[in-house]
Amino acid sequence: MVIVHTSTAEVIRERSGEKSTVGFVPTMGNLHQGHLSLLREALKHDPVVYFSIFVNPKQFGPSEDFNKYPRTLEDDLSLIRTVEKEFPSSKIVVYAPASPEEVYPPGYNQRVDVTGLSERLEGANRPGHFEGVATVVYRLFEIVKPREAFFGLKDYQQYLVIRQMALDLSLPLKVTGMPIIRDHDGLALSSRNQYLNAEERVEALTLSRTLKKVKEALDGKKMNLPLAQKIIQETLKDPRWNYLELLDGHSLSRDLSESGLVSLLGVFQLRTTRLLDNIQMELK
Ligand code: PAF
Repeated sequence: MVIVHTSTAEVIRERSGEKSTVGFVPTMGNLHQGHLSLLREALKHDPVVYFSIFVNPKQFGPSEDFNKYPRTLEDDLSLIRTVEKEFPSSKIVVYAPASPEEVYPPGYNQRVDVTGLSERLEGANRPGHFEGVATVVYRLFEIVKPREAFFGLKDYQQYLVIRQMALDLSLPLKVTGMPIIRDHDGLALSSRNQYLNAEERVEALTLSRTLKKVKEALDGKKMNLPLAQKIIQETLKDPRWNYLELLDGHSLSRDLSESGLVSLLGVFQLRTTRLLDNIQMELK
């Protein structure tokens, strides 16, 4: 069963009647296989899954793509219905707020800011972005009250910020990160890929290919960190790169010996489209 609500009051009413635990997948819509993989995973764990579709104005800067961000509710609902068929006894509640005021009623004054983790990489390039993300996710958690919430690891820093928020605020839920879903040629799926023209779509492969090359230098017994750093330095000479960094996979600090989990995170920019990707590695 798929139920669609456009008002927060309806979602709160629906939620208060749930007898079983609830999973949650927050999205901004324009769904692709990455989002559907989150929905499938959520349905494996909870018979009821809430799925939000909301282009959150608070996480876009003044010159960013809030207005042109693709809003494709009917197509999104068709895709959700195809997944629902795979889980015939499930209930999916789609929360597609009719307006930002449904999420942030007039006079809403809360802001959630996860300091530290939010300030680097995407945070440094997009001031206020993570405050907008944490604020909306907190608000959605408050409405949906999930047992577990699922996020794609393509936005790895976002996942870390939300996980930290849940920890700091002792939120009674589990935050789960799910593997990146890639196109046949390795490009990480993203709603923003559709901004690319044919030529840029080919150029975009530089991102995943470079990450792979750095990972290869670190793989196996040799674990050639100097070689990896050299590839990164050479790569960054190309101005299309916003950043490419090897960081601790939990704290995003530069000290790679901290936890043994290392993240390679990069942003490659084609005109105004910033493409994000990352790879996680266990250092031996
Ligand atoms: O990753 C996204 O789509 C958004 O940042 C999220 C988590 C739904 C918050 O608006």
